[in-house]
Amino acid sequence: MSKPSQPKMPTTRVAEILGISLQAVHKQLKAFDILPTKLGTKSYITHSAAKILLKQDFKRKKIAFQIVKGGTGKTTTLHNISCAASLYGAKILVIDLDPQGNLTDAFGVNAESTPVMIDLVENQANVRQAIVNVEEGIDIIPSRIENVTLDSRLALNKSPLHNILLNILESVEKDYDFVFLDCPPMMGHAVTAASLYVDTILVPLNPDKFSANGLQILKKELNNINKQYKVNIRYKVFLNKFSGNTILSDKAIQTTIATEMESGNALTTAVRQTQEIPNITDANLNMFSLLKQSTARDDFDLLTRELLEIQFKK
Ligand SMILES: Nc1ncnc2c1ncn2[C@@H]1O[C@H](COP(=O)(O)OP(=O)(O)O)[C@@H](O)[C@H]1O
Ligand SMILES: [Mg+2]
Repeated sequence: MSKPSQPKMPTTRVAEILGISLQAVHKQLKAFDILPTKLGTKSYITHSAAKILLKQDFKRKKIAFQIVKGGTGKTTTLHNISCAASLYGAKILVIDLDPQGNLTDAFGVNAESTPVMIDLVENQANVRQAIVNVEEGIDIIPSRIENVTLDSRLALNKSPLHNILLNILESVEKDYDFVFLDCPPMMGHAVTAASLYVDTILVPLNPDKFSANGLQILKKELNNINKQYKVNIRYKVFLNKFSGNTILSDKAIQTTIATEMESGNALTTAVRQTQEIPNITDANLNMFSLLKQSTARDDFDLLTRELLEIQFKK
């Protein structure tokens, strides 16, 4: 019996992706000796069956979710994108760098007894000891309040910031298709180390002027890091908490998105504002735990496919 939060893909969706009938999906499942599970009257598969049926190849990516402004949706997006990607058969490592540990909570992990990033930086533990499996295909390095000292520790640390996370994660990252890092809403050494480790930074913006300001600060900081470390860190923005009414009224964010779109730094998918999202998170679930129709599920699914370049072979 799997736990309620388990991400699920309806077999009807499998049929759609593979371009075959529902009967043909069930035939394939039988051939692979997979028993589809039922929630109410709907049958669904999970990560392990998706891996076998969809045979999806992934372009490996390492992505840091960040913006100096809190509450724009970094943690929620990371949580749901991981669940969506796991349902296409991807293996994902998520790393919580926020001392608040919201991502750790979202995945229902109690990090009191496991090592967290500060322990890895201080060589108090081995990276494998810090990894906790949370869902099929999804592992986490959790966080707890002790990570507040990460910034000062990294400032004192003699090892250069640009490969500190790579040194810690190199031996395990090959086991995963995607590595996602959840950053706290600030610009310190830990966030810089995360920026230097990943190939893309994902920036959730909200339709308000604070988001536009937050993005300007982040871009300035990235510029400095790029110059100092002679790197070229890419970023992508997308609009979260989109609602037809506010977007028209908010000129600042409209201009920001249009500019980023022109320079190829914006995703076209927006995630709509809906009370369903906080409700589901509060219930310790994700948008893929349930099978009912939902705009949030659709939005996160589209965002996942655009961000991770997941395409289906027909
Ligand atoms: N599209 C959305 N519609 C409604 N509420 C949202 C949406 N995205 C995020 N939220 C809510 O906004 C709050 C902040 O989101 P969170 O992901 O914790 O932000 P961050 O990690 O950037 O601080 C949470 O209560 C979350 O449930
Ligand atoms: Mg957060």
